[in-house]
Amino acid sequence: MSHHIVEVKQLRHVYPDGTEALRDVSFRIHHGESVAIIGANGAGKSTLLLHLNGYLPATSGTIRIGDHPLSKETLNEIRRTVGMVFQDPDDQLFMPTVFDDVAFGPLNQGLTPALIEQRVTDALERVEARELRNKPPYHLSGGEKKRVAIATVLSMLPEILVLDEPTAGLDPRARRQLMALLQDFHHTRIITSHDLDMVLELCERTIVLHQGMVMADGPTLEIFGNETLLAACHLEKPFSMQGCPVCSPKAIRRLPKPQPPLVPPHGDRQHDHAHHLHDHDHHDH
Ligand SMILES: Nc1ncnc2c1ncn2[C@@H]1O[C@H](COP(=O)(O)OP(=O)(O)OP(=O)(O)O)[C@@H](O)[C@H]1O
Ligand SMILES: [Mg+2]
Repeated sequence: MSHHIVEVKQLRHVYPDGTEALRDVSFRIHHGESVAIIGANGAGKSTLLLHLNGYLPATSGTIRIGDHPLSKETLNEIRRTVGMVFQDPDDQLFMPTVFDDVAFGPLNQGLTPALIEQRVTDALERVEARELRNKPPYHLSGGEKKRVAIATVLSMLPEILVLDEPTAGLDPRARRQLMALLQDFHHTRIITSHDLDMVLELCERTIVLHQGMVMADGPTLEIFGNETLLAACHLEKPFSMQGCPVCSPKAIRRLPKPQPPLVPPHGDRQHDHAHHLHDHDHHDH
């Protein structure tokens, strides 16, 4: 596949109980784009993502990944290209050990044991989960499960990475580290999240879903600057665009005079208000 576009045309999904979760959703994502899909609870984000590699069948409409329209015949090839991290890691982890789960994809790709070992080691390294390798997934904490779920997808070296709420349940350091990992992933990224500060930092483009419909699709900064749109879709601006209650000039005047730091403040992390890039784990202050 040459261009790895993701094209969704007039997608509609009705669940068996009659819930119309997606109505006429259309967009086109080009190779290398980093796109957020945001929306309130129940807007249809997970339902939409689950169509991108055929976990859910469209009620009507079409999906095209690269040169292939999604169909029974192209499903295996498309699943090799599109790596999907589910919202709930328990949907992703089903083997007796973490190693087996992360090796599952490469094994199905027919790689040699040495290559599989390499892929598993690399993927676990990237999510800082080396020490979990021999544990059963059901013994892991929520955040550990999430990191291992991401490793099961990274080990397949996907060309399109689709992540449903990747930072949910992660502690601030793991969140930061995941964001750095995603920053380094230069293929297509499609991410749903309620972590709008992460969206602001990682995604140049945002698609807003509301009640199963695309309400806006454009540059992330423009979307977050549109208060009427956000209110209509039951969304709020990212914290870093709301004016930080701790860093605001008023609050700073109330703070005690800072003592000389024992270690350089902030380490390698920039507290960069001008670019709206400071994330709100206020442990930094
Ligand atoms: N299996 C199902 N059967 C019936 N209705 C469903 C099913 N799964 C989801 N829905 C409904 O479809 C709609 C969209 O759900 P979806 O999980 O896609 O929302 P979401 O945007 O991912 O929400 P969240 O932010 O809470 O993850 C909701 O109204 C939900 O109740
Ligand atoms: Mg969801």
